[in-house]
Amino acid sequence: MPLLEIDNLSVSVVHDAIETPLVRGISYEVSTGEILALVGESGSGKSVSSLAIMGLLASALRVKHGSIKFEGHDLLVQSDEQMRQIRGRDISMVFQEPMTSLNPVRNIGSQIMESIEENLGLTRKQAKTRAIDLLKEVGVADAERRLKQYPHHFSGGMRQRVMIAIALAADPKLIIADEPTTALDVTIQAQILDLMSRICREHGTAMILITHNLGIVARYAQRVNVMYGGRIVEAGRARDLYAAPRHPYTEGLLQSVPRLDQDRSIPLRPIQGSPADPFAEISGCRFHPRCPYAEPICRSKAPEFEGGLACHFPLSQSAKEAV
Ligand SMILES: Nc1ncnc2c1ncn2[C@@H]1O[C@H](COP(=O)(O)OP(=O)(O)OP(=O)(O)O)[C@@H](O)[C@H]1O
Ligand code: SF4
Ligand SMILES: [Mg+2]
Repeated sequence: MPLLEIDNLSVSVVHDAIETPLVRGISYEVSTGEILALVGESGSGKSVSSLAIMGLLASALRVKHGSIKFEGHDLLVQSDEQMRQIRGRDISMVFQEPMTSLNPVRNIGSQIMESIEENLGLTRKQAKTRAIDLLKEVGVADAERRLKQYPHHFSGGMRQRVMIAIALAADPKLIIADEPTTALDVTIQAQILDLMSRICREHGTAMILITHNLGIVARYAQRVNVMYGGRIVEAGRARDLYAAPRHPYTEGLLQSVPRLDQDRSIPLRPIQGSPADPFAEISGCRFHPRCPYAEPICRSKAPEFEGGLACHFPLSQSAKEAV
């Protein structure tokens, strides 16, 4: 049984009784210990679909269809109290900007220990020992002294390490990391991602790694879901997607970011146009206004998601036809 199983999940925003779909029927699984990346430009539905897993959707947002099963239990039918326990113990989240997640007027120690005491039922003394161990594990030196300090005493990279320590406090089975390194400079980004993937390996923790940068994914994730306009348009093993993207949007993403495995003299090519706006009426394939391979059918008929792909003209086929 997969650890997490999402089936045909749709989420809409409701304004003045008008519903607009933000996530349009996505399905995927995550196994124990696996790192799965969710990749896509801004607005593709990465955060909304992940907040639905956590039971933390904003009040105007509703799950319209589908199920989200964690260890076989549907999270969408759990009570608020049950979800609160699941969030503390089984699934935790690391957000992009640690300053908004940490409380500025409480010291770091009390914020880590609170999570440990609440979720593991340890005494204050035991919680302190675990907090020190966690800070050491995430690479914060002089951990005992650091516990007494406040968030503003820490650099951006160090605050993100603290957030990871809090996320790990109850030894969760799944961590959802939503753009955990976007606010950091490139060297620190690599350090934090290395740290997170090592921790997942050592603890057998699964991770959903959300990013808009397909360039960094291959190094950390085993599988990738590429999202566009609220749908998964391509899913597959990271190395296959890198070697031979089948969806034009995946190809566009790969051409628009620097890659570790690519000659630096190859110029980057951003995808033309803007990401799909959920409030705009777009018929057929939502990528068609930007797709260099679009044919008339793409404007009238949305492609089904089959065999890990939603495209009428997968790339190997268009390449063949072009010959
Ligand atoms: N509370 C909300 N009310 C209305 N629309 C929302 C709300 N939250 C998200 N949206 C819209 O839903 C769409 C998907 O948003 P989401 O935050 O999931 O994007 P994302 O893929 O995480 O993008 P980013 O890379 O910018 O974080 C966007 O168009 C966004 O504007
Ligand atoms: S269905 Fe058509 S428009 Fe959409 S990605 Fe495929 S080729 Fe491009
Ligand atoms: Mg987001």
